[in-house]
Amino acid sequence: METSSFNFPTDTRVGPGVIAQLNETLLALGIHRPLVVTDAGLLATDAYKKLVGALLPGKPDRDWFLFSEVQPNPTEANTRGAAGLALDKRCDGIVGLGGGSALDAAKVCRILIKQPKLKLADYDWEADWSGLLPFIAIPTTAGTGSEVGRSGVVTPDGGDSKGMYFHPELLAKCVFLDPELTTGLPPGLTAATGLDALTHCIESYTSPVFQPLCDGIALEGIALIIRALPSAIADGPDIDARGHMLVAAAMGGVAFQKDLGATHSLAHPLSAICGVHHGTANAICLPHVMRFNARRKSGVYRRIGIACGLDVISCSDAEADEQTIHFIDDFIRRCGMPPSLEEVGVKEEHIETLANQAWLDPCHQTNPVPVKHEDLKELFLKAL
Ligand SMILES: NC(=O)c1ccc[n+]([C@@H]2O[C@H](COP(=O)([O-])OP(=O)(O)OC[C@H]3O[C@@H](n4cnc5c(N)ncnc54)[C@H](O)[C@@H]3O)[C@@H](O)[C@H]2O)c1
Ligand SMILES: [Zn+2]
Repeated sequence: METSSFNFPTDTRVGPGVIAQLNETLLALGIHRPLVVTDAGLLATDAYKKLVGALLPGKPDRDWFLFSEVQPNPTEANTRGAAGLALDKRCDGIVGLGGGSALDAAKVCRILIKQPKLKLADYDWEADWSGLLPFIAIPTTAGTGSEVGRSGVVTPDGGDSKGMYFHPELLAKCVFLDPELTTGLPPGLTAATGLDALTHCIESYTSPVFQPLCDGIALEGIALIIRALPSAIADGPDIDARGHMLVAAAMGGVAFQKDLGATHSLAHPLSAICGVHHGTANAICLPHVMRFNARRKSGVYRRIGIACGLDVISCSDAEADEQTIHFIDDFIRRCGMPPSLEEVGVKEEHIETLANQAWLDPCHQTNPVPVKHEDLKELFLKAL
């Protein structure tokens, strides 16, 4: 048996209306001048109105500040902007509101608040990162699981590939999973972000790292997503479906502390180079990677099939994989995802650069079977 270490520490509040507990949480954490970090698209949503409501009434002495310039696939300049404002306004805590982009920028800007002169390209996770400003995470998409993760994905200055900034100190002090904040998420984004969560659960479960706690969480996450995602897409205000998706996305985020697989290595450059939404990129690539893996490790998807509700217990390994992959492929189509990378603007001339970056991405190192550079290229061509 290998040695491992397990950590599931985040204080998480779940359910409709839990955002109302934000004020007491800020006070308990000693935060009196929070900086809200979000993206401009959120400002017109009910989610933002509910946040403002939770920050303001009856608290006229509360100063809070807003940074709303986070871009989708956030950049170092975004995190530097948020850090500069926090320093200027002497903020004592960060509240991230939004999808993975806003949460990652909110999480990572605390590194630059502690070390304003640091370039993210020089980030050293072994340095002393104690004493970062406390962070509260409020997701408004149910997908990335960034709210419970120890890393933030940000493109460093001058780079065209995403950087992943990891440290246990980056974890949120408190997470609010309030489904009333996600009912306004349009069907397309609900599908894409939900399928990102599904990919996290599938890739973390099948990664060969020994982490049975994460394995159990991943399988239950899959079951929740298969039940809840179609309703969340078809009926936005369905609070139960929205709540179950938020919990499942956080479960995916916890599960992939174990690690991810080749689908994520394909998805990262698709966002960085071609601007494809992260969840959409995963959804298009996932069935191709599953077929690749099943051909080399028969039976790898049986328990995922069972989590999806398929009767594959007594099938042969190959039959269990085939039924599971067919189900997932069909599920992704039923969620309304485009069938190919070509449909989201990727061209054959991108493939060489995409494959080079995917090869440098660490996620495929924990794929259930080894992946070579030419395999990644082949997978891109299949998904095209
Ligand atoms: N840190 C991690 O562990 C991790 C994991 C996976 C992905 N990521 C990163 O997360 C990012 C993707 O995050 P995402 O998929 O959540 O999308 P996103 O944060 O980029 O948001 C996409 C769009 O949805 C809008 N939006 C968000 N919530 C809304 C709501 N309730 N109503 C209406 N519109 C809303 C935003 O304004 C934005 O325009 C990528 O940068 C990806 O690399 C991080
Ligand atoms: Zn992801």
